[in-house]
Amino acid sequence: MKTILFVIGSLRKDSFNRQLAKAAEQMLAGNCQVKYLEYSDVSFMNQDLEVSVPSAVSRVRQEVVEADGLWIFSPEYNFSYPGVLKNLLDWLSRPMDMSSFQNPSAVVGKKVTISGAGGKNQTANCRAKLSELLEFMKMNLMHEPQTGIALGIEAWTKGEFSLSDEQRTLLQTQAEAFLKFIE
Ligand SMILES: Cc1cc2nc3c(=O)[nH]c(=O)nc-3n(C[C@H](O)[C@H](O)[C@H](O)COP(=O)(O)O)c2cc1C
Repeated sequence: MKTILFVIGSLRKDSFNRQLAKAAEQMLAGNCQVKYLEYSDVSFMNQDLEVSVPSAVSRVRQEVVEADGLWIFSPEYNFSYPGVLKNLLDWLSRPMDMSSFQNPSAVVGKKVTISGAGGKNQTANCRAKLSELLEFMKMNLMHEPQTGIALGIEAWTKGEFSLSDEQRTLLQTQAEAFLKFIE
């Protein structure tokens, strides 16, 4: 059975993007294994640390290597992706064996898809900029379909949100397309 590694671009405990990931996980149930990448212990990128990479970095790289695909769920921060996600991706973009820059990173060729829950533009700017970044890192991005969710006012008052039928269909379509993409 294939494994999809979920990466949440928000460290917030009750993150709406984590809630979106939970909905996707239910849709994938029985068709693949889902894991969540926990990376809050990964330090800020500092090239001094690359001589002997921190154990948290080795761990996240290993989890990425072992996955058949990555599904990123991210909020939009200031028209772009959050810094915590960029920091993680910066670590993942570097060669695993630093003896040569020709050596592969953990993410090169890795299949990936993107979704996001945020404000009224449905994280469109985050997803566009993240797409550019992932391609620069030589990942194998499934361009479409993507799921962008504009959170309603009730999400902010209740701290949780539920998908409309239309949003559920979008997410389901993306889940099925990504399963095919990683076959
Ligand atoms: C620093 C910062 C910048 C933000 N900028 C945007 C933005 O440009 N567009 C947007 O739609 N939402 C923006 N937001 C709101 C987040 O998208 C919103 O809080 C979202 O729910 C966070 O996702 P989470 O619940 O998964 O943490 C911003 C939030 C923060 C903290």
